[in-house]
Amino acid sequence: MPKKRLIVLDHPLIQHKLTMLRDRTTNSRDFRDLLDEISTLMAYEVTRHLPTQARTVTTPLMRARGKMIPGKMLGVVVILRAGLGMVDGILKLVPGAKVGHIGLYRDPQTMRPIEYFCKFPPDVPKRFMILVDPMLATGYSASAALDILKRAGARKVSLMCLLSCPEGLRVVQRRHPDVPIFTCAVDKKLNSHGYILPGLGDAGDRLFGTR
Ligand code: URA
Repeated sequence: MPKKRLIVLDHPLIQHKLTMLRDRTTNSRDFRDLLDEISTLMAYEVTRHLPTQARTVTTPLMRARGKMIPGKMLGVVVILRAGLGMVDGILKLVPGAKVGHIGLYRDPQTMRPIEYFCKFPPDVPKRFMILVDPMLATGYSASAALDILKRAGARKVSLMCLLSCPEGLRVVQRRHPDVPIFTCAVDKKLNSHGYILPGLGDAGDRLFGTR
């Protein structure tokens, strides 16, 4: 696991695509493609600390020592529904990862998450788990999802969120200090409706063309 608790992914490719995602004129189709591409780039960084095992293979010329990631290593847990926009991008790099889902919606009055769905692979305790949600806003959903994941036995979990803000980071870091957070930007603040400013609007609506 990485030593740092907050890892801001400032790679120029990620930042370029993020700026396009923020743009209100980016349509749903382009938004989906861009989020998918960024998710692959983020997954590259999130998996940087995976352990490897020595492996010898035979090239057309001679034997070569290499390293491989052991099987059954990774699990991805998606917070519905906006997290769905990131899962395929991750699976492009780690096609063998198992995928779980947590359904949470925000009570509009309290902004607290209410669970309505949860399904995980059976061997969660053995896997490195990546919890995925594009927007770390209040931090309540991510914290609740981390509670649920840990109750299911997860021991090594990273949180992968496209955008974050100081309020959400504070909540998750206080409740889950063991969980490294990977994000592409820490935005200014939350507005009174729980939206990240400047943010990119409602990630689910922009992904799926709803309102
Ligand atoms: N969820 C979103 O989709 N956008 C925000 O800005 C905050 C939460």
